[in-house]
Amino acid sequence: MNSITLIRPDDWHLHVRDGDVLKDIIPHTAARFGRAIIMPNLKPPVTTTEQAAAYQQRILAAVPQGITFTPLMTLYLTDNMPAKEISKAKQSGFIHAVKYYPAGATTHSDAGVTNLKKTFAVLESLQQHEIPLLIHGEVTDPDVDIFDREAVFIDRILQPLLQDFPDLKVVLEHITTTHAVDFIQSASPNIAATITPHHLLFNRNDIFQGGIRPHYYCLPILKREQHREALIKAATSGNPKFFLGTDSAPHPQTAKESACGCAGMYSAHAAIELYAEVFEQNNALDKLEGFASIFGAEYYQLPINNDKITLIKEPHKIESQYSFGKEILIPLKAGETIQWKLAP
Ligand code: NCD
Ligand code: ZN
Repeated sequence: MNSITLIRPDDWHLHVRDGDVLKDIIPHTAARFGRAIIMPNLKPPVTTTEQAAAYQQRILAAVPQGITFTPLMTLYLTDNMPAKEISKAKQSGFIHAVKYYPAGATTHSDAGVTNLKKTFAVLESLQQHEIPLLIHGEVTDPDVDIFDREAVFIDRILQPLLQDFPDLKVVLEHITTTHAVDFIQSASPNIAATITPHHLLFNRNDIFQGGIRPHYYCLPILKREQHREALIKAATSGNPKFFLGTDSAPHPQTAKESACGCAGMYSAHAAIELYAEVFEQNNALDKLEGFASIFGAEYYQLPINNDKITLIKEPHKIESQYSFGKEILIPLKAGETIQWKLAP
């Protein structure tokens, strides 16, 4: 197959940061995706409907002329978010989810939840309004091995949470393990998961290929090959519980290539192309449209996009770097050849 046309996809998990970097990165996502769920982990985090409205306007200002792109906004759950913020968010019409980071789990998560019990009134309201709770599913207990944090989170936090709130819509974000795949498959229909391109492409050996490779460091961390294989199976299965969320998370080169490098990989410049590569390698290109363009929209109860994109099989080199405000951004697969190209 030399080309593939898809209903325009959406990205159900995206970090775009703020300020003068927006104009450098938003065009990558906007060229490919119709909409994206925008993560609220700014510093300080986006915790109110007003802040989300202002942030949405700053993102829209960075969308190139002539392109239609809708940022779907989210709020950042904290211990002291008032439950009435949820009815406000629902009424706004532009807030589509609330993000739960365990405090300290990842980049800019210091303001995250320390004890879920403190958020029960908010969760009650989310359940009532059918607003999805998006979960960064890793425990932060330093006694738990970094490669086990997702599995332990599922058993210790997520299972009990779903018992307390059986009708809550929950997306377990950027899943990385067989345990997560099995859990999602057997959970009720209100539970879904996003899968990133990097967890489909790489395993934990890639972090240490001939030396330490900071551009392969993200959270949840890359896992063993058997887990990558399980994620590929899930993504290409046609099960609507699994859909596309890149978790593209840009950091300046200086913050990645450092004695204490930040977690996050940038994939927005070639996201749908990279998914296409994985799906093709696994003889599942026919399953890409469901995963990328349909299942997420259905889960969020939004219409599917009414235009299309075309990808052409045309091996080409990824740029070695992009501008990132006054800094430099090293993209995923920098300088390497990938197989698919977005048709102009
Ligand atoms: C994300 C970021 O940089 O904001 N980093 C990452 O490794 N994925 C935060 C997150 O989603 O965990
Ligand atoms: Zn993320």
